[in-house]
Amino acid sequence: MNELFQKPLFQYVIILFFIVLGTGAVLFPFMDNYLVLAIVLIIEYIIFLVMLSYFSKAFIKPVEKAIETMEEIQKGNYDVRLLNNPDTMVGALNTKINGLASNLNQLTMKKDLRLEQLNTLVNNTESSLILIDERGHIQLINQKFIEMFGGELKHYQDQLYYDILDNDACIKAVQKAFVSEKNIKESFTHYIGINRFYYEISGIPIFNEHNNLKGAVLVIRDITELKKLESMRKDFVANVSHELRTPITSIKGFAETLLDGGMSNEETTRDFLRIIYNESNRMQLLIEDLLTLSRLETENFRLVLHTVNVKDITKDLIPTFMYHAEAKKLTLHVDMEENVIFKADKERVKQIFINLLDNAINYTPENGQIYLKVEKKDEYVHINVSDTGIGIDQNKISRIFERFYRVDKARSRNTGGTGLGLAIVKHIVEVHEGKIEIESEVNKGTSMHVYLPL
Ligand SMILES: Nc1ncnc2c1ncn2[C@@H]1O[C@H](COP(=O)(O)OP(=O)(O)OP(=O)(O)O)[C@@H](O)[C@H]1O
Ligand SMILES: [Mg+2]
Repeated sequence: MNELFQKPLFQYVIILFFIVLGTGAVLFPFMDNYLVLAIVLIIEYIIFLVMLSYFSKAFIKPVEKAIETMEEIQKGNYDVRLLNNPDTMVGALNTKINGLASNLNQLTMKKDLRLEQLNTLVNNTESSLILIDERGHIQLINQKFIEMFGGELKHYQDQLYYDILDNDACIKAVQKAFVSEKNIKESFTHYIGINRFYYEISGIPIFNEHNNLKGAVLVIRDITELKKLESMRKDFVANVSHELRTPITSIKGFAETLLDGGMSNEETTRDFLRIIYNESNRMQLLIEDLLTLSRLETENFRLVLHTVNVKDITKDLIPTFMYHAEAKKLTLHVDMEENVIFKADKERVKQIFINLLDNAINYTPENGQIYLKVEKKDEYVHINVSDTGIGIDQNKISRIFERFYRVDKARSRNTGGTGLGLAIVKHIVEVHEGKIEIESEVNKGTSMHVYLPL
């Protein structure tokens, strides 16, 4: 009953009071007993008030609640819900309002999810991205762009692209995309400190459904690695051609001389033929090395793993290398732990020993010492080949595993080296999931450590 004396019902209470008063005024001339009239009027007023209270509870309050809820929904709070009793009219209205709120809630959740997915996509792509609207204002910029060109998101947001972008290539790409209304693709270089980076830039105009230009997207891709690979490939082809050209030129030259009458002298003929034989041998070795490398590099290359004793791998090699060492007045010391048994591709591991010992002998001057040591160390087989040779300059050490890299080209060529030996060793060690370490000092010697898992 309290609510009858509060807004908004109180005005009706007053109106009803005057209606009752009006009834009293109409009945007054016909009534003799004023007490009865007063009691009738009071009862009438009480009935009116009870009816008002009932209507208020049944209709006005729920409608007010529904209005309040609609206002909340309008503000964007889609979690509000009304009590619903589908048997009444207001209850049915509440059910509809609840349905509307729940639909809106789902739509917003879907929109938020899409936005989140878009943001994740935009921010996790490997490329830099900017979206510019038709007035030239930046509408979206991703994290990668900020990493690439610096600054903060808020500095770019809503700014004119030609005012805020500090890169001519980007500005030109947007302009071209706007003017030509076609996709454009260009590349440019960008320096971060002293490091040079190569980028490919794509400008893509955006149109609405009426084919009106609505803006442009710039996608900037870092192609530095690709450029490096491209240049490595070119270097590789150049190196192979060069390495093959040298023996071919020599074979051709000596063969021509022999054909042009050089065969009259038996001794010269023999010398020339020996050179031709040695050069063709060198070519064969080079081609074999290249084939080994390309096999090791193919993705589906599989090792043929067997349980082997290191002694089985080295037993044929050691006498040969003893002979080579002696021929060069070097001493080869061998120290092998007994029963070093591990899983390995026997032929590949043999290649490791051959290439390391070959280098130790080639790069150690007369009267030097070569040491071959094999032992178990933690969970690895430790193969150590050291020498008292010419050593390697500290800043060249990181390069000696590159294909065709030789510290001293002239000296290596004299020894017949092509610079592929250590590249092959590195690959074999990698496919065995091992590791390789070097210690070296110029004019003191080199120590190569290979660790293969037991
Ligand atoms: N033990 C060593 N002492 C000094 N320098 C070495 C030693 N081992 C390798 N090097 C240097 O590393 C370079 C690369 O060695 P790598 O075995 O890959 O090629 P290479 O010996 O020149 O030719 P090959 O392909 O015939 O082995 C060599 O040219 C040499 O300069
Ligand atoms: Mg070598």
